[in-house]
Amino acid sequence: MDTKSQILLTGIGSYLPKKMISNHDLEKIMDTSDEWIRKRTGINCRHFVEDDELTSDMGTNAAQLAILDAGLKPNDIDLIILATTTPDNTFPSTASRIQRNLGCKAISFDVQAVCAGFVYAISIGAAMLKDSHGKKCLIVGADSMSKILDWNDRSTSVLFGDGAGAVVLEKRIIRNEFVENDQWGVLATKIFTDGEYYDLLSTDGGVSKNKSTGFLRMNGKEIFKHAVEKLSSSLLICLDECNMNIKDIDWFIPHQANQRIINAISNKVKIPFNKIISTISIHGNTSAASIPLALDVAVKKGCINNGDILALQAIGGGLSWGSLVLKIGKPD
Ligand code: UT7
Repeated sequence: MDTKSQILLTGIGSYLPKKMISNHDLEKIMDTSDEWIRKRTGINCRHFVEDDELTSDMGTNAAQLAILDAGLKPNDIDLIILATTTPDNTFPSTASRIQRNLGCKAISFDVQAVCAGFVYAISIGAAMLKDSHGKKCLIVGADSMSKILDWNDRSTSVLFGDGAGAVVLEKRIIRNEFVENDQWGVLATKIFTDGEYYDLLSTDGGVSKNKSTGFLRMNGKEIFKHAVEKLSSSLLICLDECNMNIKDIDWFIPHQANQRIINAISNKVKIPFNKIISTISIHGNTSAASIPLALDVAVKKGCINNGDILALQAIGGGLSWGSLVLKIGKPD
């Protein structure tokens, strides 16, 4: 029998730390204002982990919910890919800690593409499943950005938050004759890196550089321009690859870095506002967790339904960026 495989997205979960910090809370500790933050970014509040709460703790919570949502058990998972910039330890991978917490024996590793990590991780996971490295893959995006913020730098410290989101990808074998009219799951992914812009968004320390983790540093204005241009172009390339156009997409879930970036992309490539999922106001920029957190909110609100076509886009340090298009859920 002639067969092909599809990589379905069958489960989703997310987790936010309990501690919520409003813009007014930040006004008390630095020279900033609720008005500036809201007008320039769209952020109203964000969540921060406690000192003893780890990236793996958030990732595990989100993963458990995603596995449950997919109707699976941890032992069903063959592969765990964690996108994070804020690992528990320099090594081993935080994914292996999540694996231990879940109590399973999946192949587990971290992916470092900063805010683009979730799109990278889905691209890698889908390719590995297609290449027969298992049938079920857990993709987690989790970051504790609050732990690498410099509270003396108001231009970055007001932007970020902590959180985690996870999805389950499952390989489905299908007879070739059905594939053309029955496209489900990950339809196209396009990821890019340009190291020429390495310094635009980075930490000012690192293990091999100065035996520290360093603090987050960003040239916000330059990143803003790259974000609008690169997220728009990667989305169009991705749509082209699956013979779709903007009108075919039910929901756009961009990286949640700044509402003004989201608006600029929407104007540039003519995405209707009512098709954009935005949670920047309640999450801030949660790096690799931003897309799955937004996706989970939209699914739980009942906006996104089985069979909807989604376009996801993200950009982060590297520069690393990419887009992907998928049909969520599975055929009845
Ligand atoms: O997740 C990875 C991707 N990240 C991004 O995509 C972020 C991209 N960049 C941005 O979102 C925006 O560039 C920022 C939100 C970071 C900054 O917005 P901006 O409109 O580019 O502001 P700016 O940096 O040009 O600063 C404008 C003014 C400056 O004052 P002067 O020099 O005009 O007097 C800053 O000192 O705003 C001042 N400022 C602040 N004021 C109050 C900067 N940060 C703050 C603050 N509170 N927190």
